[in-house]
Amino acid sequence: MYRRFAPVVGKGVNQGVAPVTYGTGDRPPRGNYASARADYTCEQDWARYTAADHDTYRRLYTRQLQQLPGRACDEFIAAVQQLGTPDRIPRFDEVSERLLKATGWQIVGVPGLIPEEAFFALLAARKFPVTDWIRQPEEFDYVVEPDVFHDLFGHVPLLFDPVFADYMQAYGAGGLKASRLDACELLARLYWYTVEFGLIATPQGLRAYGAGILSSAGELPYSVHSPEPQRVAFGLQRLMRSRYRIDTFQATYFVIDSFQQLFDATAPDFTPVYAEVRARIERDGEVEAGQALPGERLFSVC
Ligand SMILES: [Fe+2]
Repeated sequence: MYRRFAPVVGKGVNQGVAPVTYGTGDRPPRGNYASARADYTCEQDWARYTAADHDTYRRLYTRQLQQLPGRACDEFIAAVQQLGTPDRIPRFDEVSERLLKATGWQIVGVPGLIPEEAFFALLAARKFPVTDWIRQPEEFDYVVEPDVFHDLFGHVPLLFDPVFADYMQAYGAGGLKASRLDACELLARLYWYTVEFGLIATPQGLRAYGAGILSSAGELPYSVHSPEPQRVAFGLQRLMRSRYRIDTFQATYFVIDSFQQLFDATAPDFTPVYAEVRARIERDGEVEAGQALPGERLFSVC
């Protein structure tokens, strides 16, 4: 599924070398990194989009919007209209204007996946990087790298929620620290299992808040309705011990009770957490995707 992280290239400075995504080094990135600034941001160049590009966006948006009721969390549904008309790819500056007023966040264009430290630095500054290109029509159902639809539709609506917006900034600040502690792999699991593939328990049932789910036509119904995957109550150390799948729907989802729970659980200094997680992995090993541990709280969809 979607990856946001890439191995560090040039320690956050754009040296003209395109970052490589984990496990896919043989595939050249498609974005134009030559036009990116030192912090990897770039102008959207909205005039460059073709009618076919806008049509792809419109069709993706329309299909996904129909799927939201009963599956996406209320905060997401309430904010998705902030993206503007679905008829064309939004202008980043127009969305930013609304977002800035709501929570002090902005969105910035990037050519695609960017190095970890550059990514963390943007989040810590309340700037969310959005890929500026859109998938080809033949990639309508699945695109390997995040495109403008995934980044905008999946991620941006929840940046209008004040608590989630603060969580994202804290994540960025934590990421900069994790880089110095060589703990990015553990922290990436937190991003994966919350920002990309998180579920939230509501009085009406489980709902999705992760962008990887919300931008996927197949995984949105699967994540909240299928009896197949494990749905485990959120626990920071349990999550950091857990491996994840990038080639198919998730076998495990972590379920939070509220965005406040997420923010509170991740607010403390992670330095001792990383040490404890590493010691536990050393002793008991990692938890495989789809594995349930004895005695843990699981959520059922039946
Ligand atoms: Fe994403």
